[in-house]
Parts: sequence; structure tokens; C-alpha cells
Amino acid sequence: MQLTKQQVINHHLPSKTSAGTYAKAFAPSNIALCKYWGKRNVELNLPINSSLSISLANLGTTTSIQPAEYDQVFLNGERQPEQQAFATKVIEFINLFRRDLNQALRIDTHNNIPTAAGLASSASGFAALMLAINDFYQFKLPPTTLSAFARIGSGSAARSIFQGFVEWHQGSAQDGMDSYAEPLNSNWKKLNIALLKISTASKKTNSRQGMQRTVKTATLYQSWQQQATADLATIKSAIKHQDFEQLGQTAEHNALAMHATMIASWPPLLYWLPESVAAMHRVWQLRESGTPIYLTMDAGANLKLLFESQSKSTVKHHFPELNPTDIIAPFA
Ligand code: PMV
Repeated sequence: MQLTKQQVINHHLPSKTSAGTYAKAFAPSNIALCKYWGKRNVELNLPINSSLSISLANLGTTTSIQPAEYDQVFLNGERQPEQQAFATKVIEFINLFRRDLNQALRIDTHNNIPTAAGLASSASGFAALMLAINDFYQFKLPPTTLSAFARIGSGSAARSIFQGFVEWHQGSAQDGMDSYAEPLNSNWKKLNIALLKISTASKKTNSRQGMQRTVKTATLYQSWQQQATADLATIKSAIKHQDFEQLGQTAEHNALAMHATMIASWPPLLYWLPESVAAMHRVWQLRESGTPIYLTMDAGANLKLLFESQSKSTVKHHFPELNPTDIIAPFA
């Protein structure tokens, strides 16, 4: 029998807890170098493959929780209508942990990711919410449990509990409690990531629906797990040896292989816009002319560029649309 989210969570919460007073927490956004694509368990967001990401330092989400007269959710200072997706998701998640059912809550979420960067914020959002819940009710849960619980909100949120390079182990336990992320404790001072915005329009098919469709309909998906396993090992080795070419090549190859499985779904799932493809060609041209630069993309039209500090001025020159705040050096 499949376990529900509530059953798994209840099993790991301390029995004695009190109503909370105030809590505030921050969690970074993350960009996957080896992507998570496909679930083996939809209820618990358990992945088919392990993944590896890099957190974006101080770019992410800050969330606070405090008692209120009635439940209310704010996003960047604006009250969110109860029936709309954002408020519903936040309230549903917090209800999994709510101790005192008579205590209504006000939840405030602030994203400091450049709004024009078109970066999805569900990873940092659920991670910050989980950290704030842990403080609010004084659960004192260990980081691995916090990561596993954040995963229940959104898979990639498991990785946003930590800074730096983060590996999310796929795990094999039925309750998913061995499917959590851990930081690699490695450093890469010169590594830069640029968020190249192509479109901020919301996409028709979100990653949850996209994954399901790919797993169900793309024969090509059968090769994904094997590729992701090999890529993860190569990326870890590249990090260990600070081999940028190997890191960039593998991350780009991994992202494009993931997109190939999306395109091979039915109905086809193509997140790219003509402008995305044009930008990809610009990256490849720049690389051919000798600048070590690579790209990665998630379930959307935007690109993330990977390069080292010594290439920064060349990259800025060739991508003049990048604002200074779009370029992040997570370890600097
Ligand atoms: O956590 P979700 O359901 O938003 O899925 C994230 C999927 C990708 O961004 C495409 C890949 C990843 O590993 O972040």
C-alpha cells in the first residue's frame, strides 16, 4: 500500500510540540547540473534518478510565519487570493505540519530573484517554508529530514535546503526518507552562472505535468536514468578536480538529453522558443571561438550560462542583455 504524505510526515514529527510565535527563514534557488526528471512515486515526489545542483547563494526566498486571526498568504507583500494556486499550495503544505488546529497563520513569502530572470521559485519557496515551519513549531528536525520533507512540497526543493553544490540521493525506501539532499562541501570560487532571460510568460505545462507525460509516453525516456547516473558521477569528478570543461560539457549534455526526452513525449513537450534556440547558437558560436561557456536549461524557455570569472567580460560583451544582477558567482 502506498503511504500518504501525511502518514510519512506524522511518523517523523515529535509528539510534543507547542503553538508557535514567529519564525523567519531563507533558502536559496538552485540550478541543477544533473537534472531531476521523472518520478517513481508521485505522492511523495520520489525521483527516478539522483541529481546535483548548485545553490545561488543569497538569491532565493525568505518566508516568515506568525499567528493571525485567519489564514492569509502574502507574496512579495501582496495578499494572495485563497483559491488561487499560490495560496492553496502554501496552505496545503503547512497543513501537513500544523500542530494547533485553532491557530490561524499568516505566511509571508519574498523572492529576491531578479523578477525578470524567469527563474522558477518553487524550490527555494518550499525549502524556505519548510525551514520556517521547523522553527515556528520548534521541531528541531535534522537537515536530512528537512530536505526530505521539502521534497514533498516540490522535488527540487530538497536541494534548496543547502548552499553550494548539493546532491539529492534518489533513495529506495518506500517512505522516501532516504531520498534527501546533502551538500558536497566543495568550493569553486571562479564559477559563474548567468540567468539569460528569454521569456517570463508562465508555461503551459509545469514540470510536474511534464515529467508525468514524459515518463508515460516517451520511449526515449528509457535511456534517461542511465545517462543521469553516468552524468552525476562525471560531474562529481569534475567538481573534485575543478575541471571546468568536463563540468560544463556534462551539464549541457545532461540538460539537452532531458529536453530530448520531453520532445519525444506525446503530445510533444517543447519548452524552447525560437529565441531560446537563437541564444543556444550564440553560446555555441562563442565556445567555438575559444571561450569556455556552456548552457543548461530547465522546464522553460530560459537559459543558464556556465563560465569562469576570467570569461566574464567576454560573456557580458556577447550577451549585452545580461544585467549585473543576472550574473552570480555562488562561491565568491
Ligand atoms: O521540483 P520541480 O517539480 O519543479 O522539478 C524541477 C525539474 C527541473 O527543474 C527541470 C530539473 C531540476 O532538477 O531542477
